[in-house]
Parts: sequence; C-alpha cells; structure tokens
Amino acid sequence: MPKINTKLDDIYILGIETSCDDTSASIIHNGKILSNIVATQKIHEEYGGVVPELASRAHQQNIIPVVDAAIKKSGIKKSAISAIAFTRGPGLMGSLLVGTSFAKSLSMSLDIPLIEVNHMQGHILANFIQDGDMTNPEFPFLTLVISGGHTQIVKVSNYFEMEVLGETIDDAAGEAFDKSAKILGLPYPGGPLIDKYAKMGNPKAFKFTKPRVDAYNFSFSGLKTNILYFIQKQEKENPDFVKENLYDLCASIQFTIAEILMDKLKNAVKNTGIKEVAIAGGVSANSEIRERFRRAEKDWQWKSHIPKFEFTTDNAAMIAIVGYLKYKEKIFSDISVTAQARYRL
Ligand code: KG4
Ligand code: ZN
Repeated sequence: MPKINTKLDDIYILGIETSCDDTSASIIHNGKILSNIVATQKIHEEYGGVVPELASRAHQQNIIPVVDAAIKKSGIKKSAISAIAFTRGPGLMGSLLVGTSFAKSLSMSLDIPLIEVNHMQGHILANFIQDGDMTNPEFPFLTLVISGGHTQIVKVSNYFEMEVLGETIDDAAGEAFDKSAKILGLPYPGGPLIDKYAKMGNPKAFKFTKPRVDAYNFSFSGLKTNILYFIQKQEKENPDFVKENLYDLCASIQFTIAEILMDKLKNAVKNTGIKEVAIAGGVSANSEIRERFRRAEKDWQWKSHIPKFEFTTDNAAMIAIVGYLKYKEKIFSDISVTAQARYRL
C-alpha cells in the first residue's frame, strides 16, 4: 500500500497528460497551479492531422524532460509529491500507454498513490484550477465541452457526477474547424488559424447552413460539405477565390460554428433552468466563442465561467486538478489499471 499523505491540506499532485499529440506535466498544490508544461508535437502539421504512431514516439521522447521541467518550475522536490494523476482515456491508445506506464512506474518508485483521470472530466474540472481571477462554477452547472474529438453539453451535479445531455452525432466542433481549414488549404490544426484570420474578416460575408438536429445534439458534417461545394463552385469562376476571400471565409465559418454551439446551449439553459454555465476543451480557446460566452452574462443572465486560455487546449493542469479533488476523497487507482481508448464520462 503506497504512502498516503494524511495532511489533506498540503497536497502536491503531479498531473500527466498524453492522450493525443501534446505531452504535458503539471504540479498543483492544494488546487493552485505551480507549473504546467506542454510540449506540442509539430511533426503532425505536414501530414494534415495527428499520426498516432508518430504521436506515441514523440511522447516517449518528451515525457521525461517535460515531467522534469514541470517539477523544476514548481520549485518543489520530487519527494514532496503526494500522488500522480494521469489520463487513462479517452484518446489514442499508443499515446495513452506512454503516460499510463510512466505514471505507474513513477508512483511505484516514489511509493505514492496513483490516480486515473478521464480526459473529458479533466477538461470540465479545469474550471476549478485556482489561478488568478478564474471563478469556480457552483453546482449544478452546465458545461459546453468542445474539443477535437468531442462536442457535448454536460450537466455537472458534483465533481464526480456528470450527465451528458447531448452530443455530436458526427464531427466534433474542433473537427469542423480543422476540416474547414483544410478545405481552405490551411495547415493542421486549422482552428487557431481560422480564429486568427477571422479577426480581419466579415462574419456575414458568406452564409452557411445550420443543421437541424434533435434536442441538445449537434451535427457538423453537413457544414463541411456545404463549405466544400460552395468553394468548388466559386473556384470554377475564380481560381483565386479562397486567396482573395480568406479572411471573410474564416470569419463566416467561425460565425456559423459559434451560432450552432450557442443556440443549443441557450436552449439547454432555458429548459433546465441552470444558469451557471462553463465552457471547456480546446475549441473554447476560440476568441469569438469566448466573447459570445462573456456577452451571455448580460444578454441571457448566465453566470459564465471561462477557463484561462492555457487550460482550454490539452494540458496536464486539468488532470492534476482532478487528481487533487480525488485525493481529498481518497479515490485512488490500483497499480493494475490500464489505458482505455474509449472511456465515457
Ligand atoms: O482539447 P484539445 O486540445 O484536444 C482534444 O482533446 O481534442 O482540442 C483540440 C481542438 C483542435 O481541433 C483545434 O483546432 C481546436 O481545438 N482549437 C481551436 C482553437 N484552438 C484550438 N479551434 C478554434 N479556435 C481556436 N482558437
Ligand atoms: Zn482534449
């Protein structure tokens, strides 16, 4: 049985995240961030998407220097760490295996508890990291979880009780950004570039169709086809259409995606009566979505909770915060725990 820190008011958690193409490690002390190091793998850019085999190799190279850097930056000694939290899933199996095996070995060698974390729960509970002026949502709250692999509206009743009210039936919001960007000839991941170019464009320049989907579910595959056909048609008349209209195209695409997300969220708030609302996941780094979310406080009388930019895209601080919350409840994992590519909330 590993050492358990009985002083529950002095807990240092090392978080490790390797679910996709970012290798990350973080130290959190009693919920307060001390360090959060992220090594983003550039290798995938030239392939137009994440190549799983290359991702796991890069994790293998990055994991030790990244964990080392997170411990050094935090200013603590390795011996002060109370437990190791790691992403068990969902994600790419090869990538998850690197973080899982590393976390298991380190917890054994330091003789401290191991804590498995669901990556999506990490995105949501990133809203509880203490850093600067971040506000903590009150239970129950709704979260719009938007990432490269997921798009969900989740009702959060407490730290460990979450219910998915609706989700995408095809592409995730991040895929909608990245696939649209690919059609425009932009490199992977295209989401941040669409965001950047949209700032200089007119969001009403082009109109794209919004899907009709039941309840709180989403669909983005129709939008992608709509954009593709529209551009193919325009390029027949003007081969430079995309180049000449790039900023307006980005602004119009971003506007449509933001509208689709906000429409469903507004509905969920209206029907559930829950007015504490948070966003989470890589796409919540998007400036238009963040701005609309902020405006909703005034326009729709919500209390909006927006994580700091660095806690939106994949990072280990969100894994460490879940580790801290689980540690306080003494929820630990057995050393026989295995990575799980498909792992529901
Ligand atoms: O949460 P995340 O880092 O990884 C997953 O768990 O999937 O999300 C990555 C997704 C990518 O699709 C990326 O294009 C998108 O988040 N993303 C953005 C922005 N920053 C990241 N999409 C739109 N605007 C951004 N600023
Ligand atoms: Zn993620």
